[in-house]
Amino acid sequence: MFDFDTVIDRRGTGSEKWEKYAGKDILPMWVADMDFRSPPAVIEGLRRRTEHGVFGYTKASAEVIDAVVDMLERDFGWKIDPAWLVWLPGLVSGLNVTCRSVGEAGDDVLTLVPVYPPFLSAPRFSGRGLVRVPMHENANRWGIDFNRLEAARTPRTRLFMLCNPHNPVGRVFDLAELQQLAEWSLRHGVIVCADEIHCGLVLDPEKRHIPFATLGAEVAESTITLMAPSKTFNLAGLGCSFAIIPSESLRRSFVQAKAGIVPMLNPYGYLAAEAAYRDCEEWRRALIDYLRGNRDTLAEALKRWPGGLSMAPVEGTYLAWIDIRQAGLDEPVRFFEAAGVGLQDGREFDGPGFVRLNFGCPRSVLNEALARMGRALEERFKR
Ligand SMILES: Cc1ncc(COP(=O)(O)O)c(C=O)c1O
Repeated sequence: MFDFDTVIDRRGTGSEKWEKYAGKDILPMWVADMDFRSPPAVIEGLRRRTEHGVFGYTKASAEVIDAVVDMLERDFGWKIDPAWLVWLPGLVSGLNVTCRSVGEAGDDVLTLVPVYPPFLSAPRFSGRGLVRVPMHENANRWGIDFNRLEAARTPRTRLFMLCNPHNPVGRVFDLAELQQLAEWSLRHGVIVCADEIHCGLVLDPEKRHIPFATLGAEVAESTITLMAPSKTFNLAGLGCSFAIIPSESLRRSFVQAKAGIVPMLNPYGYLAAEAAYRDCEEWRRALIDYLRGNRDTLAEALKRWPGGLSMAPVEGTYLAWIDIRQAGLDEPVRFFEAAGVGLQDGREFDGPGFVRLNFGCPRSVLNEALARMGRALEERFKR
């Protein structure tokens, strides 16, 4: 019913993902947007808005606020007060504003590594110290190492930054893990920033996304949640995301920290968010099915290749975290670029020995990329 198979030429549209390799025969599978058209209801809403033709300063409408409030209750059983919402033109801005709004300069921010690179830069940009807590990993199963977390805490730790579902390792954290994290944060008076941008992209049918702030009233009071429709509905270029901050004092600091620096949102971002959350659940389910197929196609290919590559189960996101340590490739990104596939180096995520592959594309493109990667590995490892 929805078409994820058609290959849409994104060249010449200023696409960050595709421009990187402009003029080269390299399939880009790096930055996290998908090569699919957004849902029809989103495109139709934007078309109508375009025809209106006036594009002045725009605030969140009652309709988009209702769409977010309803989605949170429908999908996660989370009843929020609309007053808790703070709109943002980008979620990375939210990570940086959060670091500036919690504690003081010189305080420490903890995060699990590997992780999405802005988690590593935001504390430094905000005059805070970054404390990295390596996750534990065993045969591609990743998890929170609570002993390391406890040991890493400093007297100046004020903030913990959580990514769930996790980019890049693909975990959708379980209730027990989140509860243990909540107990730890409450015990030590640490505020949690929960980046849940991938919450609509749970692929594993056994898993469900649990917003961290739903673990109890006390937890909600010390959590800044960041969400956006941009990953799930492929709207990254429209710049619409939001923070949910139940605590009035945290919300006040957050709003103050962004004042005069973070701009208003544009009318398209709001409209797309409204249509996505209200009218596109069927599309989202079809997308999840398609992404599951892509994930499985990739996992099968990895098993066939020489070089011992393997990947963590992708419980959520459309990003695969591939262990290349056995292959002994010094410059893995260059190796795969030479084969015609653009991946992202694990070192950017503080995950050396890994590459990240974005499989949010038509199956035929994925198959072509996998054929190229497989050939390059066979060539490299032929006796
Ligand atoms: C965990 C996470 N947070 C934030 C972002 C980006 O958010 P934005 O484009 O709204 O700044 C991404 C994009 O890949 C992401 O994976």
